[in-house]
Amino acid sequence: EKGGYEHFMLKEIHEQPHAIKDTYRGRLRAKEGIIKMAGIDDNLEKFTNASRIIIVACGTSWHAGLVAEYIFENLARIPVEVEYASEFRYRNPVITNNDVVIAISQSGETADTLAAIKLAKEKGAFVFGVCNVVGSSIARETHAGAYTHAGPEIGVASTKAFTTQITVLTLIALKLGKIKGALSNSDYHYHLQELELIPEKVEKALKSDAHIKMVADIYKDAKNCLYLGRGYNFPVALEGALKLKEISYIHAEGYPAAEMKHGPIALIDDQMPVIVIAVNKGHYEKVVSNIEEIKSRSGKIIGIVTEGDTSVKKLADHVIEVPETLESLTPLLTTIPLQLLSYHIAVMLEKNVDQPRNLAKSVTVE
Ligand code: M6R
Repeated sequence: EKGGYEHFMLKEIHEQPHAIKDTYRGRLRAKEGIIKMAGIDDNLEKFTNASRIIIVACGTSWHAGLVAEYIFENLARIPVEVEYASEFRYRNPVITNNDVVIAISQSGETADTLAAIKLAKEKGAFVFGVCNVVGSSIARETHAGAYTHAGPEIGVASTKAFTTQITVLTLIALKLGKIKGALSNSDYHYHLQELELIPEKVEKALKSDAHIKMVADIYKDAKNCLYLGRGYNFPVALEGALKLKEISYIHAEGYPAAEMKHGPIALIDDQMPVIVIAVNKGHYEKVVSNIEEIKSRSGKIIGIVTEGDTSVKKLADHVIEVPETLESLTPLLTTIPLQLLSYHIAVMLEKNVDQPRNLAKSVTVE
């Protein structure tokens, strides 16, 4: 049942090239420049007239929502707010019938997310679900939706659900960006082609496994860990930190790299591993100067870099390479080494990787 892998989590990490393909199969026709999604096509005006999109979710799904905020705003120029479902539901939020609410949930059973959906519906919003489990409560409670088609995710630590959620949300943003004229024709086509190449690039990113295992062995006894990223990769830093804490029980925090100076930099000494996502897109130069700041305080630097990188390599203690892609698609690749790093650390510490203490796969009570 684990397909020859030692744990479900590892199997699910390695399933990502296929899972992502399954997510866009039948929806993405790159050559023809078509994105077909029934849930969007049938409700197109709701999306094109939306004054804003509010995303509600918990945990890893909330991180996927944060990535989607960057994607929707950049590609479709629609304002987005991302909310913890648990906060949203009790906040008396301002919602109108011009709002589209997107609920993201792997299990489709998360109690807080379900309650947030009910509230949004009561206030007149159009509610769209992005779920993995077919026929789940959230899939049934929403007005329309798109499944991720990732296949069953058994490991409590979410992996392929995250990357497939980002894939679905990217498809939606591209489709809306095209229709709304926010994306030029050539940009639109370029994105479609690049998205189609992601599965093979994920495959390539997975090949760093042995190197990542070696890095894991060096840092497995750390007491704390910091994850930094900017832009599209800031939420990936949060997700990397969540993965490490939930399965290895090492305290980890994710931060936007520039926030370091506002507090966390005080934690940096020669015992502190800092994982920095520093791909050659977006604010690369700024991330490199953040790395210099960590280095001058003797922090241990693990850089997640683009293949062929030279600047970070000179500064970092270790680099882990991912293939090059468009900036908006980088989270689909930078997430992979972070999943593997936490996995190996947890295994080395002899933790129960698939069923970490105190956690449930779906959180059906608030
Ligand atoms: O099923 P959901 O996506 O609604 O679950 C939300 C969170 O409970 C879930 O992502 C949780 O944070 C994972 N254990 C993270 O790996």
